[in-house]
Amino acid sequence: MTGKVIAQSARITLREFTWADFPELLPILTDPLVMKFSVTGPLTPEQVRGFLDRCLCKYKERGYWLWAAIYRPENRLIGYSGLLDQYIDNKPEIEVAYRLAPAFWGRGLGTEAAALARDYAFARLGTDRVISLIEPANMASIRVAEKNGFTYEKDTTYYHLFVRVYSLWRSQWLRLPHILSPQNQVCPEPKRGSD
Ligand SMILES: CC(C)(COP(=O)(O)OP(=O)(O)OC[C@H]1O[C@@H](n2cnc3c(N)ncnc32)[C@H](O)[C@@H]1OP(=O)(O)O)[C@@H](O)C(=O)NCCC(=O)NCCS
Repeated sequence: MTGKVIAQSARITLREFTWADFPELLPILTDPLVMKFSVTGPLTPEQVRGFLDRCLCKYKERGYWLWAAIYRPENRLIGYSGLLDQYIDNKPEIEVAYRLAPAFWGRGLGTEAAALARDYAFARLGTDRVISLIEPANMASIRVAEKNGFTYEKDTTYYHLFVRVYSLWRSQWLRLPHILSPQNQVCPEPKRGSD
């Protein structure tokens, strides 16, 4: 059984995780390279179970969280992209967060997956702004944020990390040329009674 589809672009589907994703997710979130820039570092198998558990709970509680990123040409789980509730400098924020397996880096897939989560936040949640928290040395993530229209706003601390806050306001998002193009669709709400 696969999870509910959230959004789709030319090469990426974002869908809810299920427990069946554990074997494919495990090598990704336990990889020190993938987890180099993170609060936790590489996860243990037990922590990956906790990660999945938290996602499944949050889908029920909030309707969103981190979603499985599926590389459509190979129907393969390659990481995650999604939205996190954050509380930064005494303010609630929605963060766009993403991580992919290294074999898929450098092909624009991170940007594509992050754009789907960004568009979901604005189009479906109606949020006024989104942020990404990025360590200054994480150049790939900074580029992903910039390519998706985010700009540097300020520095802050997040747990023990010194991070940059990149942000994108709804008014800026509306001016981006590529939002919600036919190739970059946030899936419509199912009609009542259809699921
Ligand atoms: C961040 C991440 C998702 C990017 O995925 P990706 O598929 O490689 O991203 P894209 O191909 O869409 O774009 C990457 C951009 O970063 C650039 N880049 C990569 N490494 C770089 C480096 N060391 N210095 C400068 N630029 C770099 C690429 O050239 C590209 O920019 P360009 O299109 O202008 O050339 C991926 O590297 C990843 O999963 N990293 C580990 C997890 C992580 O750090 N997540 C973010 C936490 S804030």
